Amino acid sequence: MSHYYQHDVLVIGSGAAGLTLALTLPQSLNIAVLSKGDLANGSTFWAQGGVAAVLDAGDTVDSHVADTLDAGAGLCREEAVRFTVEHSREAIQWLIDQGVPFTRDEQHQEEGFAFHLTREGGHSHRRIIHAADATGAAIFNTLLARARQRPNIELLEQRVAVDLITDRKLGRDGGRCLGAYVLDRQTGEVDTFQARFVVLATGGAAKAYLYTSNPDGACGDGIAMAWRAGCRVGNLEFNQFHPTCLYHPQAKSFLVTEALRGEGALLRLPSGERFMPRFDPRAELAPRDIVARAIDHEMKRLGADCVYLDISHKPAEFIKAHFPTVYERCLDFGIDITRQPIPVVPAAHYTCGGVLVDQRGRTDLPGLYAIGETSFTGLHGANRMASNSLLECFVYARSAAADIVAGLAETRAPERLPAWDASQVTDSDEDVIIAHNWDELRRFMWDYVGIVRTDKRLMRAQHRVRLLLSEIDEFYSNYRVSRDLIELRNLALVADLMIRSAMQRKESRGLHYTLDHPGLLPQARDTILVPPTYAD
Ligand code: FUM
Repeated sequence: MSHYYQHDVLVIGSGAAGLTLALTLPQSLNIAVLSKGDLANGSTFWAQGGVAAVLDAGDTVDSHVADTLDAGAGLCREEAVRFTVEHSREAIQWLIDQGVPFTRDEQHQEEGFAFHLTREGGHSHRRIIHAADATGAAIFNTLLARARQRPNIELLEQRVAVDLITDRKLGRDGGRCLGAYVLDRQTGEVDTFQARFVVLATGGAAKAYLYTSNPDGACGDGIAMAWRAGCRVGNLEFNQFHPTCLYHPQAKSFLVTEALRGEGALLRLPSGERFMPRFDPRAELAPRDIVARAIDHEMKRLGADCVYLDISHKPAEFIKAHFPTVYERCLDFGIDITRQPIPVVPAAHYTCGGVLVDQRGRTDLPGLYAIGETSFTGLHGANRMASNSLLECFVYARSAAADIVAGLAETRAPERLPAWDASQVTDSDEDVIIAHNWDELRRFMWDYVGIVRTDKRLMRAQHRVRLLLSEIDEFYSNYRVSRDLIELRNLALVADLMIRSAMQRKESRGLHYTLDHPGLLPQARDTILVPPTYAD
């Protein structure tokens, strides 16, 4: 038996953005926060680096804005950058007030700011506040503990959103988002969630690639659902590859935080030679696109399986104190980073584009918001600067919450929604197709839509993704939904949108680098895709 739920606000996704929004809304609202698996399964939990913010006395908003614009290669929306950076200090204060245990810096106590700030690529100042090298876990655990104390917030695990419910889909007037159909993985039933406001906070789509630093759930669910509901998406060709993921057969793309380079770690070839100064005057602290491309270039040139990140010249005590997570994890694989270089390769890390939103997180569909990696605010441009993304989560979650509050008076609960119709489907007896398609999708995205692209590779990828989409559609129409099928359906759709976006960009800018169009066009333009249902 399926269930019917009614909430004021339905938040799909339980990471930094979703929890911040839920905690910022008034306690008089009843809020559901959904997680596809266990609550701690999202990308926030795994974030090592930190949150970029203007906190140091010698730093300025203008400097943070300028660094972000520079990394974004002409495509950042300056008003979004300024809005985010100007709200950075208050967002950090809010986190401190929630109790996030950021690493302290006793030396600077007297100067009025007691927290340690580190550096990362592209930042011209120390401005990354962090909790050692496990910032995401510290933030997530703190916010989750707060959310658990709130009787108005219902945290629901093992719930996979299948699709949004809209007036349009029901043939009703009004043009609003009304809720979502959600698979309960424990019962196998698809439940109906009705809400006055729906918030997509489902993270990015780095799982489209064979090698990724992201957890398994990063399937672009929010982007796919918003597109199907008629929302525009933007700049999906800009997929950020993190330059340094641990290269080890059992490591499953464990990230080695950029903060190591911020604290002096050097990149070396297998011969021990340092190579980044040949590619950029900022060397190891150049923006990520430059570092990842340089590594890719050197690996291909030498036929090497990996390059090496070396921090062993720093005192062992410093390394263990600042990077306990990386130290312990590498030690598990027999690598003592206080004495040995770390084998590293690039891996897909962050989806810079997403669902188009305004400064309040509002999408094209009234009642529907998108925040965090799911959204496209204009902050990141063609290349996200490290640690700006967590900041974006907090700033936009708070502005979206304020907008929801402002709209409460004029928004009534929708009329009762129909239940999910499962009368035409049966249990699948061919799950091997899903597993095979997963594999195929992630492999050709890595090979054809990766760090270096060409027109021909993109055409091949498009041909393959279209075939997969038609197979997946047929499967979806005939069989009962499962988490694997829902995620594959979403990921294949987002991969198609990524490929279409990449094909439209006839230049090399930021993270989109193509051998067929190596130069920059004189004018920087966003790639905005419009869904078929948008115009009518
Ligand atoms: O390298 C890192 O710790 C990642 C930071 C980020 O992606 O912002």
